[in-house]
Amino acid sequence: VSVDLGSRSYRVAIGRGSLAAAGAAIAQAAKPTRALIVSVPGVDRRYGAALMRSLKQAGIPTSRVCVPDRDRSKSVSRLAELWQACVRAGLDRRSVIVALGGGMVGDLAGFAAATFLRGISFVQVPTTLLAMVDASVGGKVAINLPEGKNLVGSFYQPRLVWIDTDTLRSLPRRERAAGMAEIVKAGAIWDAQLFAHLEEKIEAALDLEPEALLPAIEAAIRMKAEVVSLDERETGLRMLLNFGHTLAHAVEALAGFRGILHGEAVAMGMVYAARRSEQLGCAPAGSATRIEQLLARAGLPTELPPHPRRAYLEALSVDKKRMASVVQFIVLEAIGRASVRALPIGEVFPAPRKTRHVEVVG
Ligand SMILES: NC(=O)c1ccc[n+]([C@@H]2O[C@H](COP(=O)([O-])OP(=O)(O)OC[C@H]3O[C@@H](n4cnc5c(N)ncnc54)[C@H](O)[C@@H]3O)[C@@H](O)[C@H]2O)c1
Ligand SMILES: [Zn+2]
Repeated sequence: VSVDLGSRSYRVAIGRGSLAAAGAAIAQAAKPTRALIVSVPGVDRRYGAALMRSLKQAGIPTSRVCVPDRDRSKSVSRLAELWQACVRAGLDRRSVIVALGGGMVGDLAGFAAATFLRGISFVQVPTTLLAMVDASVGGKVAINLPEGKNLVGSFYQPRLVWIDTDTLRSLPRRERAAGMAEIVKAGAIWDAQLFAHLEEKIEAALDLEPEALLPAIEAAIRMKAEVVSLDERETGLRMLLNFGHTLAHAVEALAGFRGILHGEAVAMGMVYAARRSEQLGCAPAGSATRIEQLLARAGLPTELPPHPRRAYLEALSVDKKRMASVVQFIVLEAIGRASVRALPIGEVFPAPRKTRHVEVVG
């Protein structure tokens, strides 16, 4: 799949067992003087040596560095350490940083690449399903602050995204399902055919059966590539990618970013947004149920945690993507189509109707 952004265009290559060929592809895409692989211990142990060997065979002097696992590494202090590691590795302006891991590694290493020596080449080798279909494509890189997630970052496109789906074999089932939530999102907002494909084969895709999984990954990336090509900096169309995310961010914040994976929160948020879309008269009845059933088959949660309404309203009003007390809510129009609608927070999460008892029934 190609991401068309003029002189910053790049290729997303999807393969099976292709890790050993990464070096040659990186050499061709970035023509680097040196490479630094950034990873986390669990991923580096499994795939780091193979990637390093492949880079060296392609004639690129390469070193490796690891940061601790999970989102706590997307911090100012880890970033500073990574910049220093770049100096120690002897990186110059024509060197490349290669992110090997999930979205956390991609976001951190990408921001380091965007800033070290005012920007050096960057390549993504995503190893989680979420990073393959979402985080590695589109050029958003960021770190967290204690005050909130992804508050400091940049738009910085990679030179290449190199996907070896065999790396998913070691990815825990729960992480696979979380990534699948973003593929379901791609189908729901953009690609009815992808959605239908998942309705037929979501279990097989989660079992990594190639004929079920590969077309799903490719379609989700194609969606993101198209959307990003048309609106790199999220001034319009790219906002559609936030389908389910308004509530997801609230759910994550209310959980203190613990115990719940991003994809799981997105699953809950999408079912909520789809139901709300039906209530608002935007989506045909039954759309939300289709989304809910599909996500449930993937083992994903579909009901919002039972926090009081007030807690949700407060969490929504600190969503950094808000505009005053109005949020850009993504409504479903049909399976495969969505649009942006400015909604006051109270309308996103309306008070339960109290007039039911006077409605005439039957
Ligand atoms: N830039 C973007 O557009 C974008 C989009 C979505 C999410 N994100 C960011 O991505 C991050 C989440 O990404 P994620 O879900 O990939 O989480 P993650 O990077 O934390 O990885 C999840 C877990 O899987 C492990 N892992 C990774 N690859 C593995 C493999 N092949 N086998 C076994 N274990 C493996 C990791 O070590 C980690 O424990 C968040 O920081 C989020 O903000 C960014
Ligand atoms: Zn997401």
